[in-house]
Amino acid sequence: MSRSAPALRPFLPADTPLLAAIFAASIMELTGDDYSEAQQEAWAMAAEDEDAFGKKLAGQLTLIASLQNAPVGFASLKGPDHIDMLYVHPSAAGQGVGSALCDALEKIAGARGAKTLTVDASDNALDFFRKRGYVARQRNSVTINDEWLANTTMQKTLDSAPQRGGHA
Ligand code: ACO
Repeated sequence: MSRSAPALRPFLPADTPLLAAIFAASIMELTGDDYSEAQQEAWAMAAEDEDAFGKKLAGQLTLIASLQNAPVGFASLKGPDHIDMLYVHPSAAGQGVGSALCDALEKIAGARGAKTLTVDASDNALDFFRKRGYVARQRNSVTINDEWLANTTMQKTLDSAPQRGGHA
């Protein structure tokens, strides 16, 4: 089967319930090798208050990836240089959706002048980010809904924009 590139578009408030469902399915089905069921449930519960979840997505630069017109993943940039969220539905994992979302956020951040990007990567996403050139900087423990979860702050230096001569 040929692999088609996902289409990307900005988040709209009406997308919130679908993204909450992708968020929960992604955590519950893709992170079990690295986190306990209790940790997964606490993490997935972060989208249960859809109103708050929608406000968080709207407050960041959130992109949605679709395959055959169906949303299958999303990613968000918090501030100028931090990837806050990256979630792909399990049915679409391993098809380049996460890469397409990250490519886009890296390009947007770079075009806006960011020199580096950081991400607090979950343990299951460490190799994904490592392959993209992110380097581990710091190990963290965070509490989500009374469960402790480990993650790793990683950083990537973005390609510098081509320098042009002439006047600004
Ligand atoms: N472990 C090792 N390698 C991986 C993993 C993984 N879990 N996931 C993807 N890769 C590799 C792929 O094999 C591929 O390598 P290749 O280019 O050599 O073929 C490369 O990374 C790109 O893979 P994609 O298909 O673009 O990644 P995918 O669309 O499956 O998305 C993601 C990866 C986002 C990590 C997905 O597995 C996911 O949603 N996981 C659960 C949620 C999660 O942990 N998200 C990140 C939390 S951290 C944060 O939000 C900032």
